Amino acid sequence: MLHGIELADGKARSYKNRWVRTDQTAAALGETAIAGQVEDTIMSELAGNVANTNIVAHAGKLLALVEVNLPTEVDCNLDTVGRFDFGGRLRSSMTAHPHTDPGTGEMSFFGYEVVGPPYLRYHVVDGDGTLVHSAEITVPKPTMMHDFAITETRAIFMDLPVVFDLDLLGKRPFPAAWAPDNGARVGVMPRRGTDADVVWCDIEPCYVFHVLNAFDSGDDVVLDVCRYETMFDEDLHGVGGGPARLERWTVSPTSRKVSVDVVSELPVEFPRPDERYFAREHRFGFFSSPRMTDGSLGSASGMALAKVDLSSGGVEVHDFGPGAISGEGVFVPASADAAEGEGYVISIVADADAKRPSDLVVLDATDFTAAPLATVHLPARVPLGFHGNFVPRGALAR
Ligand SMILES: [Fe+2]
Repeated sequence: MLHGIELADGKARSYKNRWVRTDQTAAALGETAIAGQVEDTIMSELAGNVANTNIVAHAGKLLALVEVNLPTEVDCNLDTVGRFDFGGRLRSSMTAHPHTDPGTGEMSFFGYEVVGPPYLRYHVVDGDGTLVHSAEITVPKPTMMHDFAITETRAIFMDLPVVFDLDLLGKRPFPAAWAPDNGARVGVMPRRGTDADVVWCDIEPCYVFHVLNAFDSGDDVVLDVCRYETMFDEDLHGVGGGPARLERWTVSPTSRKVSVDVVSELPVEFPRPDERYFAREHRFGFFSSPRMTDGSLGSASGMALAKVDLSSGGVEVHDFGPGAISGEGVFVPASADAAEGEGYVISIVADADAKRPSDLVVLDATDFTAAPLATVHLPARVPLGFHGNFVPRGALAR
């Protein structure tokens, strides 16, 4: 379900929620599927389509994304248009985490396949929404790849040891398992590169759902990641072990080595930069930070927001109080030419006891621990979700 809050002239003008009417959701609602859609992919027969992970605006379109399907286009009223395949140029799954270069408007993304090879594909869509480049990428096994990174010149893949095993279908919540014997590697390639261009650099087995940002540093690539020791190991839902911490990986394609620096031991997830600095060297990151009683994510009693200054390692935490669970903190710049990190962090805060409606909270990103600049009491509880985005007026007007 999508939740939309319209902000204008210092006011919250409206709230609405709408199911993303994939064929699966339409059937569950007792409706007929939307007619005239483009053909579905084989992965959808295997995985269904819940379109529940992210909602992204690009080239005037809104796409609801889940990593095992084609995108589902929705309109600015959050009504579902239907499956979207970039005019027939995408015939396989799309990650929920495409990344757009703010300088060029070019959007890069990948998609993984459980049944393959190829287990990995990479695509580039230009600023006008035309899919202009695709490449099949060789990886040894079908690994669960949730996010990747771009710099101004390169794309970075993380082939980490959570491996799909179709024999686990029906036996586990996800048919994937921790498989450190598969090794772990980071692949670096030019943004318009092909399989032959990828330089793979081994790292210690670990897992990363989300990358804060990445940038070129000479020949090296620097990426800041929320890194877990293991995933889908002792806990079959994947997220019951220890939390992720923020690490800076410096990847050298020349020496094929990755050096790791721990930025902070604070538990972090859902990293968001000031996206005007996306693919460029950044200073600030904004995160959700679970509050745990015994060091395990299973004991988390709530979720705060955190701001990390990468230049100093300094951390600020905005806690919304006992039982409050903040969603992802989305950074919105105060103006187009504001300095990095000068703006707002917007988040939906829910009550763990599910007894009261949720709030949309606006923090001053430069005075992070101060009381919120604004709190919008929503008319409904917004259940805990994954990702959201701020879409400026006019971005969907084409
Ligand atoms: Fe995600």
